[in-house]
Amino acid sequence: MSSFMESSRIALPIGTALDRFIKNNQDQFQYASGELSQLLRDIALASKVVNREVNKAGLIDIMGAMGSQNSGGEQQQKLDVLANIRFTRALTKGGEVCALVSEETESYVDLNNDGGYVIAIDPLDGSSNIDVNVSIGTIFSIYRRKSAIGKPIQEEDILQTGADQVAAGYILYGSSTMLVYTTGHGVNGFTYESTLGEYVLSHANMRIPEDGRIYSINEGSANSFAQSVSEYIQYCKDQHYTARYIGSLVADFHRNLLKGGIYIYPATAKDKNGKLRLMYECNALAFLAEQAGGLATDGHTRILELKPKDLHQRTPFYVGSKNMVQKAVSFIKES
Ligand code: AHG
Ligand code: MN
Ligand code: MN
Repeated sequence: MSSFMESSRIALPIGTALDRFIKNNQDQFQYASGELSQLLRDIALASKVVNREVNKAGLIDIMGAMGSQNSGGEQQQKLDVLANIRFTRALTKGGEVCALVSEETESYVDLNNDGGYVIAIDPLDGSSNIDVNVSIGTIFSIYRRKSAIGKPIQEEDILQTGADQVAAGYILYGSSTMLVYTTGHGVNGFTYESTLGEYVLSHANMRIPEDGRIYSINEGSANSFAQSVSEYIQYCKDQHYTARYIGSLVADFHRNLLKGGIYIYPATAKDKNGKLRLMYECNALAFLAEQAGGLATDGHTRILELKPKDLHQRTPFYVGSKNMVQKAVSFIKES
């Protein structure tokens, strides 16, 4: 990128609308064709529709189980299915996407052979919290396709490593709704202003504190943690850290991003590779964490360097403040 382009970009103030922000920063992207910008807008639009459904969840008949199962054999909630439909529809109409990987579908969905991008998405994260009015989210990763445009999709387009992401982010449907994303030039957060129907910049250039005092892990599974994990958790207690775990990855990650902390979903006796999915949960959050100055690892390898072999592959996940993740890893190395 030329220094002229770098210097011609104005730092936009808090309150700037997402559309304007995307447009202003379009030249940061090496394939500055406007397609990626359009994709981000499509995702933002679909999220507004999902946000509307989420807010009405208690009033209309979209709570509860669907009676079907997702790719991992887990019970699908009505909102899981609905959110998947909303995002798929928005990304199909735009034409920029050639293939979509979703938690809710076994195989990838072939969209437009002329599209230059592949998307991996967890349309509704934190399903168990839908019925109890607790924060839930959406997670997305965006890749450039590797094969030639216009040709059928190849495996190399789909199974890309996290380091190849060109953009990633999440939407948090919380006490306010936020969209947080990166294109590899830092992390920015936008809060949804529902009366305007706009996301506005509220958290510019987000940085995760290098140290933190929050640890987030489902301790209900403690009996089946590896010894190194149990020892690290004991270390957190000895340090009088605070335990915080909602059970919605997006919400747990977001809190730790703002306050400093570590989120761990380790391997357990039941889930030998942990529970979380590499392609549409961990990679996006790992990219965001690193862009904000934090770290993400499976305990041995940087998440962004893991080569997926399967769309729905799981991985142990340690993510958050740099010094905390390094400390957790030191317990694994010693064991
Ligand atoms: P999803 O709702 O997309 O299936 O994801 C649920 C995930 C994640 O959001 C959360 O951190 C984790 O499951 C919680 O799992 P436990 O209940 O095992 O702690
Ligand atoms: Mn999830
Ligand atoms: Mn989900």
